[in-house]
Amino acid sequence: MIKNTNFPKLDMGSPQTLRGKSVAIIGGTGGIGRALSKHFAAYQAKVIVVGQTFRDADVEGIEFIKADLSLMSEARRVAALLPVETLDMLIFTTGIFAAPKRQGTAEGLERDMAVSYLNRLVIMREIAERLGSENTTKTRVFIMGYPGSGKMGTLGDLNAENHYRPMEVHMNTVAGNEIMVLDGANNHKNISVFGLNPGLIKTNIRSNFLGGNKLLFRLLETIIGIFTSTAEQYAKVITPLLISPQLDDYSGTLFNNKCRAIKPSKGIIDSHHMQLFINQSWSLIDAASKKQK
Ligand SMILES: NC(=O)c1ccc[n+]([C@@H]2O[C@H](COP(=O)([O-])OP(=O)(O)OC[C@H]3O[C@@H](n4cnc5c(N)ncnc54)[C@H](OP(=O)(O)O)[C@@H]3O)[C@@H](O)[C@H]2O)c1
Repeated sequence: MIKNTNFPKLDMGSPQTLRGKSVAIIGGTGGIGRALSKHFAAYQAKVIVVGQTFRDADVEGIEFIKADLSLMSEARRVAALLPVETLDMLIFTTGIFAAPKRQGTAEGLERDMAVSYLNRLVIMREIAERLGSENTTKTRVFIMGYPGSGKMGTLGDLNAENHYRPMEVHMNTVAGNEIMVLDGANNHKNISVFGLNPGLIKTNIRSNFLGGNKLLFRLLETIIGIFTSTAEQYAKVITPLLISPQLDDYSGTLFNNKCRAIKPSKGIIDSHHMQLFINQSWSLIDAASKKQK
């Protein structure tokens, strides 16, 4: 992650301005998304969270849409349920880590690609044109992942059918999400699109990577927890950036966990590479959709 030292210092927004704002967090039921949803609700935003397990039924201001976003059919259903015309913010935090052995979804997709990246593409394609169409300000879309990692993605076998290497698969989801930001900012001038890299935070994300080894998972997350911020601390730090009055002037920017702009990964900004990556991603989604019928 290389800081973009030429980026201007933005005025931070006051959390009080969240009152009455309409926010959807895809992946807002756990980890960082959940911390954001609770923080926003505490400032009286109207929050919709999408995920598999709702843990905040007792929190006022948070509504729940249950969905298994490993399935593209579910991503389409969620897209149809969201109040897209009036959303102020849409945040993608759904994610897992590729397992030691390849896992496939019922639609034939590699599971990490489906959950951490492809469903986001589907949702965005379904709603991007309508986002915020009844608002006076642009909808802000935040795509969380690990942008600026330096990885541009390995083309040719995005579904990992020929060779399965968990880290390579996961880095393809990372590249896909970074491309979504850069391409989305170019192609959708009606909205603002940003990438968020939260750095290491103790959550559930690595449980799948360790193949269900609970002891190792707890040990790793305890160590991460000692040295890094909690999801709640991150939510508190990043919120003023998400509501900065100047942010819409910088659509396409990637930010680290200190609200500093970071440079895109070398190679990713090549428009030919981006297009190939997106085309190959859509081939997978189309094949998955046919399988489902
Ligand atoms: N934590 C880190 O160290 C770290 C580092 C770099 C980047 N990130 C990025 O930050 C984002 C949030 O990660 P996190 O650490 O908060 O992870 P997390 O605690 O594991 O939360 C992931 C979220 O994804 C949802 N989810 C997982 N599988 C799903 C499925 N099949 N259908 C619907 N929802 C599903 C979970 O919902 P349920 O619990 O309801 O299933 C949960 O709300 C991800 O994009 C991740 O790549 C995290």
